[in-house]
Amino acid sequence: MSPFDARPDGPSHRQSGAPAADGARGGTPEQALGRLFGIGVGPGDPELLTLKALRLLRAAPVVAYYAGPRKRGNAYTTVEEHLRADQILLPLVYPVTGRIPAPPFDYEGTMRRFYDRAADLVAGHLAAGRDVAALCEGDPFFYGSFMYLHDRLAGRFRAEVVPGVCSVVASAAAVGTPLVYRDQSMLVLAGTLPEAELERRLADADAAAIMKLGSNFEKVRRVLTRLGLAHRALYVERATMHGERIVPLAEIDPASVPYFSMLLLPGEQWQGA
Ligand SMILES: C[S@@+](CC[C@H](N)C(=O)[O-])C[C@H]1O[C@@H](n2cnc3c(N)ncnc32)[C@H](O)[C@@H]1O
Repeated sequence: MSPFDARPDGPSHRQSGAPAADGARGGTPEQALGRLFGIGVGPGDPELLTLKALRLLRAAPVVAYYAGPRKRGNAYTTVEEHLRADQILLPLVYPVTGRIPAPPFDYEGTMRRFYDRAADLVAGHLAAGRDVAALCEGDPFFYGSFMYLHDRLAGRFRAEVVPGVCSVVASAAAVGTPLVYRDQSMLVLAGTLPEAELERRLADADAAAIMKLGSNFEKVRRVLTRLGLAHRALYVERATMHGERIVPLAEIDPASVPYFSMLLLPGEQWQGA
């Protein structure tokens, strides 16, 4: 059984499989092909779904979404109440989530094969003329897993992206602090970067968002402390989702930091206005 056969506990009457993709346009009139929609569903609060996302989501015969094994995924649960009973659900179940297994496990190769197979499954529907709405947390083109489908399929099928409310601005709203004033610049970093690289890049940042914390949290906190920036850092967990938490940096237990968390370093408040 492939990872794709593992259904999250969605409604049982829906079909999740897809015919294998031939993928090519060869011989198929373009108008007969389905369209791929990357739907940004926002950071978690279902009210942050855009009207356009909702319209295209409800119109699509197929809804694809990434999820962990035996999970439904945040993007799916964000839009679940809007789905029609006759829509085909296509869960794309990650082979690995959370902490990355150490070598000799081939993480990059495993993920590449997973995204290839996910794209084949989506392509099967597109080639059969069915539009596919692929859900993505936040915005699809901002660290969004939809990008791996887009990279593989946009050259062969019509693809459109519906931008979503990004977690960075949702987190700023959650902590109630403006991010950047006037001519300030903002740096967006992944906490997965090596410690020295984080330190080098953060050293002269006006403002920053540090994403993908999880097990990287302690490393990031060390860097902020060394740079004398810890007092400015605001930690947000699950912004706009159930269980949203805003905790002072010093009080965070590194063992409890989830994947859906980030640190914001807002720009200094503008005094001139
Ligand atoms: C793969 S990126 C996805 C970003 C997403 N496409 C966006 O536009 O926000 C995942 C990272 O986004 C951040 N993130 C996503 N949703 C979040 C939320 N509701 N609250 C805090 N951080 C969030 C976390 O840093 C997480 O590790």
